[in-house]
Amino acid sequence: MTLLHISTVGDKILREKAKEVTEFNGELKELATNMADTMRAADGLGIAGPQVGVSLRIFVIDFGYLDFVKAEENGEKPKSAEFRPVAFINPEIIEKEGKIMYGEGCLSVPKYNADVERAEKIVCRYFDIDGNPQEIKASGLTAVAIQHENDHLDGVLFIDKISSLKRGIALKKVKKFLGAVRENGSKTETELYGKQ
Ligand code: CO
Repeated sequence: MTLLHISTVGDKILREKAKEVTEFNGELKELATNMADTMRAADGLGIAGPQVGVSLRIFVIDFGYLDFVKAEENGEKPKSAEFRPVAFINPEIIEKEGKIMYGEGCLSVPKYNADVERAEKIVCRYFDIDGNPQEIKASGLTAVAIQHENDHLDGVLFIDKISSLKRGIALKKVKKFLGAVRENGSKTETELYGKQ
């Protein structure tokens, strides 16, 4: 298993517009697998190319984790989340409808959550890892996750959508977290956030 270094707010790559994927090959599959493993190790439910230093239009969402969170929100007590990562390549959100407020977090803004307003329902077109065109209709948390990850491909972070006061708190928390990882982070934290 290969864990990739996760970029954090302040890293330039998170602000760049990512490039279209033009070749669906083994290298892309390996990237998607490594992104999925990195996301899981960091306990995330989505991760985008720029977050692992790759400025390409790809993100991965763990649909098993989404189901787990949705079940919890419905008052169920699921034992554990299945790991069901799905790669979205060259995604395009072609329809948006309604509004929803949802508490979001981001692997590039560790240890911080804030409510963000998004479209409640979306339709997203994308290519799967084999280069086949796909379309998904999503609502609620799934729609939120797709919009959050899609934003990463355009250099947008969820903290851009909150007040500057809250953003200041977020930046302080990230700095503190990175300092703590450098001092005495666990092996996984050091691998994910400690390098560079
Ligand atoms: Co994010």
